[in-house]
Amino acid sequence: MRLLVDRYVNGQHKKVNGWLADFSSLLIARLAATLEEEKVQGASVEIGAHHGRLFILLHLASTGQRDMVIDVFDAQHLNVDHSGKGDKAIFLRNLARFGGDPARVQILQKSSLEVQPAEILEQVGQPLLFSIDGGHTAECVHNDLSLADATLAEQGIVILDDFFNEFWPEVAVGTMSFLQEPGARLQPFAVSPGKVYLCRPGQQGFFHAAIRSHFSPRYIDKEAQMLGSRVLVAGVREGHRNWYTRLALTITESSIGRRLGMQRWLPPKFSSPA
Ligand SMILES: C[S@@+](CC[C@H](N)C(=O)[O-])C[C@H]1O[C@@H](n2cnc3c(N)ncnc32)[C@H](O)[C@@H]1O
Repeated sequence: MRLLVDRYVNGQHKKVNGWLADFSSLLIARLAATLEEEKVQGASVEIGAHHGRLFILLHLASTGQRDMVIDVFDAQHLNVDHSGKGDKAIFLRNLARFGGDPARVQILQKSSLEVQPAEILEQVGQPLLFSIDGGHTAECVHNDLSLADATLAEQGIVILDDFFNEFWPEVAVGTMSFLQEPGARLQPFAVSPGKVYLCRPGQQGFFHAAIRSHFSPRYIDKEAQMLGSRVLVAGVREGHRNWYTRLALTITESSIGRRLGMQRWLPPKFSSPA
């Protein structure tokens, strides 16, 4: 599977319609590989898969027996704020195209508002990688974080989409209301383009070390305080490259650039651990 993950994050993910920035795909693959190196096993779960762009990565990198997708898919009348538009047929086609195993993927075709934690635990066990990218209303985000909190393995991570997206302010509202609940056991530890990462209290340092040891300082933008936790902001400057930086990168990747030794400016490639 490692070869499949490498191929996917190093370019194939762009062939799947959806939302996943290049650097974030590298970071998620690295976090998954770090957990695998620690011999921690668990399922991948995504709420809101659309055509599978992120889920395929989570599935290829999974160490669980079975993974799970929760999406309203063809029941789009349940997609109340029109965030994305899941399509089961396209999703399954993409999954198979990039080396996934549909027989290992449990599909719950319904609103996450109707899902109970027991359904996840009974069907796939405790998730290690849990992506939240379904309905973007405050109610959905609060509900989906509660599902993640009730099921996530102790070493697991939650990948939350669009917290900082000004088009979807309800995501931040739902997240804040969830995190302010006295029993909440998820805390943010990193930010990358389009994503905020959360883990169990006390696990932040482990993930920070993993990120710092695998990415050049060029991609670690800064440390920040977020809702009482220390977070690493990574790959965000890269994600905001302007057109002349992109042009410079195109030259860097050309034969002239290679002759001039300009490769050091290229973004990192992901490689699974040996
Ligand atoms: C922004 S898209 C997901 C993008 C996807 N994660 C990717 O990698 O490109 C949002 C998805 O959530 C689904 N959705 C919307 N409301 C939902 C709900 N209440 N429960 C489950 N899925 C929902 C939509 O059908 C759509 O596929």
